[in-house]
Amino acid sequence: MDDDLDADPSGSVCQVCVMPDESISAAWSPAAPDAPAATAAVVARLRTAGCVFAEEEARLIVAAADTPADLEAMVDRRAGGEPLEHVLGWAEFCGLRIEVGPGVFVPRRRSEFLVQQAVAASAGAGSGGASAARPVVLDLCCGSGAVGLAVATALRGADLHAADIDARAAVYAHRNLAATGGHVYVGDLYDPLPADLRGRVTVLVVNAPYVPTSEIPLMPPEARLHEPLIALDGGPDGVSIHRRAAAEAPRWLAPGGSLLIETSVSQSALTQAAMTAGGMATRIATDADMDATVVIGRTESP
Ligand SMILES: C[S@@+](CC[C@H](N)C(=O)[O-])C[C@H]1O[C@@H](n2cnc3c(N)ncnc32)[C@H](O)[C@@H]1O
Repeated sequence: MDDDLDADPSGSVCQVCVMPDESISAAWSPAAPDAPAATAAVVARLRTAGCVFAEEEARLIVAAADTPADLEAMVDRRAGGEPLEHVLGWAEFCGLRIEVGPGVFVPRRRSEFLVQQAVAASAGAGSGGASAARPVVLDLCCGSGAVGLAVATALRGADLHAADIDARAAVYAHRNLAATGGHVYVGDLYDPLPADLRGRVTVLVVNAPYVPTSEIPLMPPEARLHEPLIALDGGPDGVSIHRRAAAEAPRWLAPGGSLLIETSVSQSALTQAAMTAGGMATRIATDADMDATVVIGRTESP
């Protein structure tokens, strides 16, 4: 399950908002927006609302606010349970600042493992085939585009393509990829991609929804209430989209190219079976510290 919004500063669970605290705007000064008094007032408010990482969050919110009214509004939103990243308008991912906002999935820290594995897979592609030219990276189910952008950045340049079914997510992906010259498409999995991408993808990264439908009600409210269901619900066993992505991947991958799908430990055998059915040699990589699991498949080298 992709439910770690309660596991880091981006995910402390806030309770329902308390009454506005006038000391927040009273203490705020445009000349010193991170002034200790304003920060202390925000910390107190966030703490009362149940934010576990109140100090760190207060520092970020105070630094981001342009006016006292802004600050009040941001604190209200956070105290009301919105993800910190939606309030700030950005998320940190692999050292990059990724633009996010209401209605888009917040990239998770554990997905940095997917990025690491994708970069390693690209480097290990060997001579010829998938590694011969500038890498071609395809980020399917891209959301804000964080994963593909981080892979392309780590590879120091790539021909980057990203696609998502949700037009709101694509707006953010478009902004985040703008500086790379990357292409963003809107539609169901491979449907919106240009035909000339077939057989050319070096690294195909997929962080699709993989929470089983029956487990959605168990997710933390920050995810359940503030991220779109289409970004979370992976179908009856959570791997419906993995199966569809894996089945069609060989048509898009270059010889020696890799498909990497983020999953959970408990679902990894199902995700792996989906890839094996598509004819790929597969393995499972895990990182216990990051609570991260990635299934990696490779097409035959030329
Ligand atoms: C778990 S979020 C991950 C977003 C992004 N990859 C990341 O790691 O931040 C899953 C994304 O898959 C998208 N999605 C769901 N079903 C899809 C489909 N059939 N085709 C393309 N995208 C889909 C959702 O809109 C959402 O943005």
